[in-house]
Amino acid sequence: MTKKSGTFSRYAVSAASGRLGHAVLPALIAASGTKNVVAIARNPDKVQVAGIEKRAGDYNSVESMTAALAGIDTLIMISAPVGNWDRVAMHRNVINAARQAGVRKIVFTSVIGGGQEQDTWFWGTQQVNRQTEQDLQASGLEWVIARNGLYLELDLRHIMHASESGVYRNVGAEGQCGYITISELAYAIARLALDDRHNGKSFNLVGDNQTQAALVQLANEVFGLKVRYETLSDEENIALLMQDEKIAARGQEVARMLTGCFQCVRNGAFDVRSDFEAAAGRRVKSTRQMMEELRASLPG
Ligand SMILES: NC(=O)c1ccc[n+]([C@@H]2O[C@H](COP(=O)([O-])OP(=O)(O)OC[C@H]3O[C@@H](n4cnc5c(N)ncnc54)[C@H](OP(=O)(O)O)[C@@H]3O)[C@@H](O)[C@H]2O)c1
Repeated sequence: MTKKSGTFSRYAVSAASGRLGHAVLPALIAASGTKNVVAIARNPDKVQVAGIEKRAGDYNSVESMTAALAGIDTLIMISAPVGNWDRVAMHRNVINAARQAGVRKIVFTSVIGGGQEQDTWFWGTQQVNRQTEQDLQASGLEWVIARNGLYLELDLRHIMHASESGVYRNVGAEGQCGYITISELAYAIARLALDDRHNGKSFNLVGDNQTQAALVQLANEVFGLKVRYETLSDEENIALLMQDEKIAARGQEVARMLTGCFQCVRNGAFDVRSDFEAAAGRRVKSTRQMMEELRASLPG
């Protein structure tokens, strides 16, 4: 842990009421203690982690974020969720607030990608991450970029849902992609914040690369499912996603973005080298181990 002016550094996590924030906070607390960790959220009451200071901060307001960041040395800035709003401007607000508040270092949670995502429908979303990475690097602050892999939890949920029909479909085809659990990401991201030797570097936080069919096979083994994988065309995938009421309510653009994510799998954009060990100081758990831990955490 960094010592600053005779006192221990204080760490903050913003957008802390979400899934990743809820996982990063305990990882930080374990290393630096409750007194040195602050959760920042639009609605601090939504942060379900005990014993730490919680402050209100909205990415749409530089003023609220500047106030929330008072006395903070290092901020883990979790990216704003995808939606019909200007995420680049929101992230710039946070960076500007951090500078005004005297924050020394920001760890930004981005998304993996080898560059080929520019040729996919995911590029609109990914462009925000790349722009914020550039903004942070030009900010004059100390920085670390955590390029997160796809959440294993999300695709596992879809595979389990597919057990009703017996077929899991998307456009990933034979592409390789490294999935990772939110708790593994949180472990590594906390270390990126705590250890200044990581400053000025970007890290791909992913597990073992594998095809969609291999992922489904592993889920079959760990969860006792009987699902097979099938490749769809982009248009078929859009039509399938639009059958989901929640996606349909958000519009075709969302279905295109979600399809684009698996175009990135198909074209190799998400087939990246893992820097997990360099970030976390230990090997990433195997996909099987991550799945077994998720199975053990299921209720009942
Ligand atoms: N790698 C992946 O597979 C993957 C998957 C999904 C998302 N992501 C990205 O990773 C980020 C973190 O993931 P997650 O799972 O923690 O997402 P999440 O559970 O959806 O949480 C999003 C967080 O953003 C907060 N937020 C929304 N608008 C905000 C604003 N104006 N100011 C401050 N905070 C705001 C939400 O606050 P409220 O609680 O107040 O709504 C919530 O805390 C996401 O935002 C998204 O950019 C990555």
